[in-house]
Amino acid sequence: MAPSEQDIEEEQRHFAQVIVTFRSYAQYALSANNKRRKDIYRLPRADVELIRGIKYREKLECVDRAILENAHFLLKVVEDADMFGHETDYLDVGGDEGNGKRSQNEQDQVKSYQRDHADVQNHSHISPHSHSHSRSHGIGHDHDNRHNSQSHPRGYRPSEGDMDKLRSSLKQLVRDWSEEGKVERDVCYEPMKQALLEFFKDVKQEDRRNIRVLVPGAGLCRLAFDVAQLGFACQGNEFSHYMLLISYFMLNQTTEINEHRIYPYIHSFSNASKKSDILRPVLVPDVLPSSIPSGTPFSLVAGDFEEVYSGESGPEEPQHGLWDAILTCFFIDTAKNIVNYLRMIHDKLAPGGVWINLGPLLWHWENNNTGDMSIELDLEEVKELAKIVGFEILHEKTIDTTYTNNAKGLLNYTYHAAFWIATKVKEDKDKQGGKDDHRTL
Ligand SMILES: C[S@@+](CC[C@H](N)C(=O)[O-])C[C@H]1O[C@@H](n2cnc3c(N)ncnc32)[C@H](O)[C@@H]1O
Repeated sequence: MAPSEQDIEEEQRHFAQVIVTFRSYAQYALSANNKRRKDIYRLPRADVELIRGIKYREKLECVDRAILENAHFLLKVVEDADMFGHETDYLDVGGDEGNGKRSQNEQDQVKSYQRDHADVQNHSHISPHSHSHSRSHGIGHDHDNRHNSQSHPRGYRPSEGDMDKLRSSLKQLVRDWSEEGKVERDVCYEPMKQALLEFFKDVKQEDRRNIRVLVPGAGLCRLAFDVAQLGFACQGNEFSHYMLLISYFMLNQTTEINEHRIYPYIHSFSNASKKSDILRPVLVPDVLPSSIPSGTPFSLVAGDFEEVYSGESGPEEPQHGLWDAILTCFFIDTAKNIVNYLRMIHDKLAPGGVWINLGPLLWHWENNNTGDMSIELDLEEVKELAKIVGFEILHEKTIDTTYTNNAKGLLNYTYHAAFWIATKVKEDKDKQGGKDDHRTL
């Protein structure tokens, strides 16, 4: 089903708001840091002196500078946003209302920053290395502003939620594209890659390009990239514009290892043991994005997994049985309806194809306030359902892993993530009924 005019308009608006969020980062983050500075002066005078003595203000100055470096990087990311097929030229950052809330000092910092980095706004031609598909009209947990028809990008003021997604994207860059993230990647992505290699061990390396691997919810695309680097034909799928913009930039507009420096940990001072926990820079990428074996198909498709791969765009369901492997990493719990995710994964796999999963069950839509459904099963229920849908679980284990934590901080969450390798053993259509058949599931 083709997207309606209204869908397209809503998509344009959402994309524009994301671009405004990137462009507003400096003023928003500087303002938050300035609040810390102002709070010092709410202390009794003697305490202000004490705080001065331990050089807390100097730390805030360093954070200001780090914010400006992050902003420089983020502006580069959206410099060529036009090539995503949406108009962005008419966008304003913040608007008068936003300016009114900023101190003169912050406004001066932002202005001088914008002057110094004026070149970043110029649009230049790039030649994409991955394919971007613009059917991204899905609604998801990073799309809270989509239904706010009042919010027009002109003068749009990003919400705390928008900024939170942008700040999380910076931490996601550490996970996927930095040397520091290797520890976490080795725990999460290595077992998945090894399982894939083992499953297709009889396929010669030069023939791997004939094996099609799909990675839905690809995030910043490192797992998909690694799979392509092994020589498999790989497609990532992602619906968050934050993720798409950054991964597109990393994959297509980065030419050197450690080309960019970001400061992902400056936005929270909680649970830091020392200044460097917050202020340490992280360099990205740790690998050359162009290092995929030539001739290996590698693509990134934008849009909601359930919409893009449902086959609703054509009468013949072209995706049915198309994929030899589907890799889901920290993804299945993004489902509103896990039954449909499992059915989709099963339906898109070729008979005998492999589904490799790793992740917790942090149901993303639990307690949502948007009225969306959310089916929140426990692990046993998910696995039971997978078997009913037509999978045989060949191997399973628990993998303890972090997810985008500040590794140097005083707090680290560990997920006891479920890992499994499953194969498609029966056709869902014949044996389980279609999408609307509620008798079997
Ligand atoms: C927890 S992150 C995991 C990202 C990546 N797989 C990793 O391990 O770092 C889940 C990702 O799935 C994406 N996502 C959630 N629902 C989606 C959907 N319906 N279609 C496509 N992507 C989706 C989110 O935007 C997010 O990037």
